[in-house]
Amino acid sequence: MISGVALLTALAIVTGFSGCASRGAIAPGAQPQSFPRGQVAKGAELAHLGNCLGCHTAVDGKPYAGGTPIKTPFGTIYGTNITPDADTGIGRWSLEAFTRALREGVDRDGRHLYPAFPYDHFTKVTDEDIAALYAFLMTREPVRQENRTNRVPIPRAFVGVWKSRYFTPGVYQPDSSRSAEWNRGAYLVQGLGHCGACHTPRNKLGAEEKDAAFAGGEVERWHAPALNAASPSPVPWTVEALQQYLRHGIADLHAMSAGPMQEVTHDLSKVADDALRAMATYIVSLDTRSDAERRQHAAAALERAGKMRAMQGNTIYDGACADCHNRGRAEEGGALELPLGTALTVPTPRNLAYIIRDGIVPPEGERGSWMPAFAGMLTNEQLTDLLIYLRALSGQSAWPDVAREVRNISRGDQ
Ligand code: HEC
Ligand code: HEC
Ligand code: HEC
Repeated sequence: MISGVALLTALAIVTGFSGCASRGAIAPGAQPQSFPRGQVAKGAELAHLGNCLGCHTAVDGKPYAGGTPIKTPFGTIYGTNITPDADTGIGRWSLEAFTRALREGVDRDGRHLYPAFPYDHFTKVTDEDIAALYAFLMTREPVRQENRTNRVPIPRAFVGVWKSRYFTPGVYQPDSSRSAEWNRGAYLVQGLGHCGACHTPRNKLGAEEKDAAFAGGEVERWHAPALNAASPSPVPWTVEALQQYLRHGIADLHAMSAGPMQEVTHDLSKVADDALRAMATYIVSLDTRSDAERRQHAAAALERAGKMRAMQGNTIYDGACADCHNRGRAEEGGALELPLGTALTVPTPRNLAYIIRDGIVPPEGERGSWMPAFAGMLTNEQLTDLLIYLRALSGQSAWPDVAREVRNISRGDQ
């Protein structure tokens, strides 16, 4: 995006190069090192929270050996080799150098790193957590693999200008007016989770618009939906649903995670429940709409979903029932128009379900027309859709939980 480059150049001229000078190099650290097992395990979980693997592993490449293309509006930047290989990886990086990379976005030689590496979020991570990540990475298999050359028209010195304007280093500061769980969630979401890297809109220079945090952003040509009060989710997120979604990539009444989000939920499936619950607590608190408004949204969405099922039911009705029941009793072979029967208006779908399953056979010896039995001819889902459709025809409010009734009936509940 040329305009971005031009703007950055302009910014560099206006701001001057003050504050953007490269930093000093940090001397090589001693290696190999050993770390307590508990610290390595904790680092593994934190690495999942930060999706380190995804950005630092090429397709079919060795884990953490880099070479991953990350497309930005400014060009393609490659994830680097962060295995402990001494020559091509970070094997010679001391904890100090590693901490400086995450907290300040500067490599061991003192050069500015491109913010495609989300250090504007990782800067919030505590020393203790950074040390655990370090322990985890330093105990991975060292892989000898040279870093790929970036294709970005922006010199690293300009990144220094960008940082002086848009980057505020510093560990997460708790908000004492909020609960411990909320603060933990905010720490994880704003820090390692770097959710805002995708879910917050960016300005022309690629910096997140802090005033519009979580208002929805763009990534790899996907839209990452708003997670605040502007959330387009038809059924507003609850803490329970969001926790379930982050763990499984799918939640009741919500879609399955897709595109760039799929890798995120895949990683989060390896994170402990209490951390996910804290993150969900924080995210849901960003939706400042009133409970009444949220409930109203949910009800309207569920009603629209019900109509879709009713449309399915309509198709089944046309195929299985209309021949007789659209004609009325006056005609030969015709039967009652169903909105005239009480099976549709009673408070439970069971009567209707039993009639459809068993039919109505006239008593022995008596003549008369009969209603055929459909047992075994409709799946539970088809029967559910049909019941929802017929109920809607009755003009009454929907039956609660038709699907569960149908399941119970099919399991032999009389
Ligand atoms: C969204 C992609 C992305 C994620 C997620 C990410 N990184 Fe990176 N990282 C990068 C890119 C790109 C670079 C190289 C930046 C550059 O060349 O200026 C980088 C550079 C680094 C460096 C500097 C290495 C060097 O050779 O200069 C370290 C250390 C690092 N990342 C560690 C991590 C850790 C630890 C995590 C997980 C907590 C992580 N990264 C997650 C994209 C990412
Ligand atoms: C790499 C970019 C990226 C990151 C990082 C990311 N997301 Fe997403 N997210 C997306 C995209 C794109 C979508 C839309 C596709 C989809 O619905 O699966 C999405 C969808 C979602 C949804 C579903 C929204 C809805 O209303 O249906 C939720 C919830 C969500 N993300 C939460 C998070 C949280 C919490 C984090 C941080 C732990 C996070 N995301 C990190 C890109 C990202
Ligand atoms: C071959 C013709 C035929 C078909 C097909 C048929 N029915 Fe019937 N149905 C009848 C007859 C005949 C009766 C009993 C006499 C009457 O009601 O007119 C009946 C009765 C019923 C009743 C009891 C209420 C009433 O009208 O007496 C319900 C409810 C019902 N049918 C639902 C259905 C549904 C739902 C389907 C489709 C899955 C269906 N029927 C398919 C012929 C049919």
